[in-house]
Amino acid sequence: MTDRYAVIGNPIAQSKSPLIHSAFAQVTGQDIDYGKLLGPLGEFVAVVDAFRASGGRGLNVTAPFKLDAFAYATDLALSAQMAGAVNAMKFEGDKVYAENFDGVGLVRDVVHNLGCPLQGRRVLILGAGGATRGALLPLLAEQPAELVIVNRTVAKAHELVALANQHQTGEVPVLGLGYVALQGQAFDVVLNATSSSLTAELPPLPASVFTPGCLAYDLTYGKGLTPFLKLAQQVGVTQVADGVGMLAEQAAEAFAWWRGVRPDTAAVIAQLTLPLV
Ligand code: ATR
Repeated sequence: MTDRYAVIGNPIAQSKSPLIHSAFAQVTGQDIDYGKLLGPLGEFVAVVDAFRASGGRGLNVTAPFKLDAFAYATDLALSAQMAGAVNAMKFEGDKVYAENFDGVGLVRDVVHNLGCPLQGRRVLILGAGGATRGALLPLLAEQPAELVIVNRTVAKAHELVALANQHQTGEVPVLGLGYVALQGQAFDVVLNATSSSLTAELPPLPASVFTPGCLAYDLTYGKGLTPFLKLAQQVGVTQVADGVGMLAEQAAEAFAWWRGVRPDTAAVIAQLTLPLV
């Protein structure tokens, strides 16, 4: 019997998840149907209840429902607790298992697809919102030399330092700073996890953070050469990337969690990649 999955959001027309999961199903030979659910605002619970009642096995969750899904879950994975948000759910009887695969997807893309190891390297992450929260433990598991969190509102960066130190199993130094304190510092990997690229803004980042051999990575997908990536290029960084690989990798994690088989992501990434211009 065909198992049903979907992505729920509002709006939902733009979602690439059906395309990605259908491609995964085809290459792995899994018999699934993956659709889109437009959730009217305030009706998340009713829509998800109905989906489950009709045999739905799992959902991806996108804006604005990631917190609704957090509240709906019966079993929250640490990844979801850390992120404070849910992006994948699995239904088994009365149980609603909930995960957030964004952080692990990011790290997989950086290390595996882009060939940029994090171990022993200085990593800077911009922003102290949900995207950074979710990335903390997967980044720290790679044992960087140091993880620096920079945010306009420095107190939020400090909160995330405390959260990271509460949960990390290793002893990676984690620092929280404001942008001014970055002056003169340089990093091997610079990750933009702020929402600045959605509005074509540039975080107040000193260009000194970039070194020519470093990776500049914008977690935003499909916005071309964002002001952040442009700055990196202008100061000589040759390896710049947006979040298309992260999108594919978090989907592959969800697929593997649901179906027990992990699809290769290369074809999907190639299909979804937009030029960085
Ligand atoms: P998300 O869940 O996508 O991370 P969020 O929780 O609203 O979104 O967090 C957005 C992050 O982007 C915050 O860290 C925010 O910085 P502040 O906490 O100082 O507001 C950051 N951000 C948004 N626009 C920015 C900009 N133009 N420059 C720098 N940081 C920006």
